[in-house]
Amino acid sequence: MEVIILPTAEEASEVAARLVAHQLRAKSDSVLGLATGSTPCKLYQLLARMHSVDHLDFSRVTTFNLDEYIGLDPAHPASYHRFMEENFFTHVNISRDRIHIPDGLARDVPAYCDAYEKGIYDAGGIDLQILGLGSDGHLGFNEPGSSLSSHTRIKTLTERTRNDNARYFTDDREVPHHVITMGLGTIMNSRMCLLLAFGKRKAQAVAESVEGPVTASVPGSLLQFHSRAKVLLDAEAASLLTRADYYQWVYKNKPPWQSDL
Ligand code: GLP
Repeated sequence: MEVIILPTAEEASEVAARLVAHQLRAKSDSVLGLATGSTPCKLYQLLARMHSVDHLDFSRVTTFNLDEYIGLDPAHPASYHRFMEENFFTHVNISRDRIHIPDGLARDVPAYCDAYEKGIYDAGGIDLQILGLGSDGHLGFNEPGSSLSSHTRIKTLTERTRNDNARYFTDDREVPHHVITMGLGTIMNSRMCLLLAFGKRKAQAVAESVEGPVTASVPGSLLQFHSRAKVLLDAEAASLLTRADYYQWVYKNKPPWQSDL
């Protein structure tokens, strides 16, 4: 696990954008795992700018989103379909038939989830998975207690997560209880993980994920087992890390052949 601490979320997002761009330039038909929430918004803006200014090409890229609320129409303002459309897909030259977001209106949820998982496998697996972190340490919508080897399936949100995400809904009671999410096993199967976390609100979950024991009680901690996981933090999110000075020294003193990444 590589921990990269930058003063601001903007600077950390720039590193993330460079990593994604590097991936796409190395493999134009990369499979990206995508996240929603406020955390990756800046990253998506930067990628959109790289597309328009530097011609970063998304035409052969395939995407799989982590999760979606069950029962929300894709056009609902708080749906992750809508989020991705507005924050990313309309701003890059991605091919519509290569975009995958769990269908919150699927009739047979277990069969749908199996097919989603198979879709990832058939696409060759996820090359680079972008992740945010819930304030309770969740990844995707894998709440504390999720099986560490889980695959795409239905999950029930905790009240804390429902409250955290209520800001996207007009009425708190409207926040769905059920979601479809890639599993922790699905996330761990990706070749590289980029976890982004910003702000004081995430500091505890970051400390537990990076320096605490690996436990299903903190899903983010499972990334300690991933062989290529990078954790990109702003100073506030890193504020409870005991080895912050070490991580910063490592990042600033990388050998030249490594420094770009
Ligand atoms: C939701 C998403 C997660 C995301 C989390 C954090 O629960 N399902 O993928 O990481 O929110 O959201 P934010 O980035 O807004 O703090």
